[in-house]
Amino acid sequence: MSLEVIILAAGKGTRMRSDMPKVLHPLAGKPMLVHAVEQAQKLAPTHTHIIVGHGAEQVEAQVKPLGAECVPQKQQLGTGHAVAQAMPMVDNDATVLVLYGDVPLVPAELMQQLVDQTAQGGLAILTVTLDDATGYGRIVRNQKGDIETIVEHKDATEQQRQIKEINTGILAAKASLLNAWLPRIESNNAQGEIYLTDIVAMGVGDGVNISHLQPQFPQQTQGVNDRLQLAELERWYQLQQANQLLRDGVQLADPSRFDLRGELTTGKDIYIDINAIIEGQVHLEDGVHIGPNCYLKDAHIGAGTHVLANSVVDQARVAKQCNIGPFARLRPGTVLEDGAKVGNFVETKKTTLGKGSKANHFTYLGDTVVGEKVNIGAGTITCNYDGVNKFQTTIEDGAFIGSNSSIVAPVIIGAGATVGAGSTITKDVADNNLAIARGKQRNLTTWAKPVKR
Ligand code: UD1
Ligand code: CA
Repeated sequence: MSLEVIILAAGKGTRMRSDMPKVLHPLAGKPMLVHAVEQAQKLAPTHTHIIVGHGAEQVEAQVKPLGAECVPQKQQLGTGHAVAQAMPMVDNDATVLVLYGDVPLVPAELMQQLVDQTAQGGLAILTVTLDDATGYGRIVRNQKGDIETIVEHKDATEQQRQIKEINTGILAAKASLLNAWLPRIESNNAQGEIYLTDIVAMGVGDGVNISHLQPQFPQQTQGVNDRLQLAELERWYQLQQANQLLRDGVQLADPSRFDLRGELTTGKDIYIDINAIIEGQVHLEDGVHIGPNCYLKDAHIGAGTHVLANSVVDQARVAKQCNIGPFARLRPGTVLEDGAKVGNFVETKKTTLGKGSKANHFTYLGDTVVGEKVNIGAGTITCNYDGVNKFQTTIEDGAFIGSNSSIVAPVIIGAGATVGAGSTITKDVADNNLAIARGKQRNLTTWAKPVKR
């Protein structure tokens, strides 16, 4: 028995007030729809059909690379109509899993359970019991407790509106049943829409046993209609991730002030202070400490390294026992070798800092290769850009760059060389030489201070 997934994603999402289709708004740094697609694909479906309408091209650009196929729904005539658009592409012997692109946190395991339940009768729905069920389709059961029908909020009687068990919209059904039911759905309801939910009453009429499941947490089936719901879901998801890291032995100062938008892998004895934002793929080796308010993106940080408060490490590779910050910014292409130090207000880009080298204060190093045990004085700038092209600076082992120097690339400063403070270096400096390139100091003995006239 094959599985096919249909994800509804044609709606506009008016309440988001956005030019971007709602399903592309990110949760934990990834479009909501991509969360749904990735979980669904863990079930290894033969096809994933995405029903697209508003912003179809934008949606397609996101999901095509994931191997999903887009099916246009020109007019959004209702959820039943949406599913019907994909059915001609679906194998009649398959089981169909229907998901919503704006319900991002359904775990794959729950999807699988729902699919497995179709073995019983052929239709399985995912329901959840909410304190406030306003706006949702209600699950109407008979005296015996069997599901009879789903009534949309707008069509429900006052009594039905008291029901707290709601339809999440997510369901699994045999394709053959959907093919029998979908053409029979009418739109004589409060919204004039073709309601997918009508198939439940049809199933009951046909004597099909309707199974149901509930999620472990209501957030797992929570849909997003506005930015408040998105923010609430984001906080819940972040807390789940943070709690999991704590359980896995990563010390977070405060799980409610931690954001992971990607994947974090760690060694042991990791400490992460408050307000860390971690994006992409980040690996922290044993004993790494991350100070408060740090941003780490696609970074590998070696054992025992400390990243102090308010630092940015973006697409950088940091070896062991390094010190970064406070207020440091490592930009893409930065490599710090063992024991290197980058202090406050230091920016590096496409730069390697060799073993034990230091740039401790107010410095820009771009397109620079710094050897071992080099000291870069405060205020040093590598002038790597002439407005058109970028050029390379090389500073060899043991060199000492005096404070406030401008090093105009391309240039090589030899091993053990010294650059006098305040120099503007435009020519190579040989090993062990002293380069001074600044105005000579003159002290005028005859000078008299001006007096007030
Ligand atoms: C739907 C369910 C309701 C359930 C609720 C859960 C129906 C009739 N009602 O209501 O029982 O409690 O979801 O959130 O199914 N979409 C399309 N094409 C369409 C219509 C919708 O792709 O023609 C997509 C939307 O983009 C959205 C999803 O389907 O992602 C749900 O549509 P929406 O209009 O939000 O349904 P609700 O009225 O919320
Ligand atoms: Ca909705």
